[in-house]
Amino acid sequence: MIRLGVNVDHVATVRQARRTVEPDPVAAALLAELAGADQITIHLREDRRHIQDRDLQVLRQTVRTQLNLEMALNEEIVRIALETGPEQCTLVPEKREEVTTEGGLDVAGLQSKLTPAVTCLKQAGIRVSLFVDPEAELMKACADSGADAVELHTGAYANARGEKAVEAELDKLRKASAAAAGVGLKVFAGHGLNYVNTPPVVAIPQVEEVNIGHSIISRAVLVGLERAVREMKALLEN
Ligand code: PXP
Repeated sequence: MIRLGVNVDHVATVRQARRTVEPDPVAAALLAELAGADQITIHLREDRRHIQDRDLQVLRQTVRTQLNLEMALNEEIVRIALETGPEQCTLVPEKREEVTTEGGLDVAGLQSKLTPAVTCLKQAGIRVSLFVDPEAELMKACADSGADAVELHTGAYANARGEKAVEAELDKLRKASAAAAGVGLKVFAGHGLNYVNTPPVVAIPQVEEVNIGHSIISRAVLVGLERAVREMKALLEN
């Protein structure tokens, strides 16, 4: 059974648009768990554009499945992760000006910073995953860092148009998955996965976990809108 991590960052994005208290990603996480989510994923960005420190602290106390903290290789955030103790940390690259995480970690370039951070997190009992591009030749360096897992960046696959381009991206994901498992890494996947493009990814035998945010929250807005309007209408009529 593939584990589903539900990323609730986008709920926080709506809240932060008004700098208010709703919608609360903590409430969203609880509902996601009730619906069967196996994990709650959040990204505490350096610029705190969506998830706030308070969200991490409250989620740490309320999440009943497991908490997966996406984070940059940043001293302050590593310290927060060690203090909070999520079950899993996913190390991601972060650029202030990007709309979302654009590429995978530069594992080879970061090795001297990466290995000590991975060691620290693992010593605290936290599983460590590296968010990387689906390049088979990167997997050995990922394993050398001491990480437990890789999360293969499915953004290029999600953005590919046309059967040939999609198949080429899927092939990269398949080869990277096999290479990762070959060096003892667990294989996760995420970014841009939706109700249409997820099945071929989870059909890759090594893939154990997917982390999905935008498409689930987008769908939630649409399937929930009619009920929300009816409730307001009923309130006005009463
Ligand atoms: N996995 C990682 C490492 C991410 O950075 C993101 C985006 O925050 C996701 C999964 C979820 O991506 P999406 O919101 O496109 O489903």
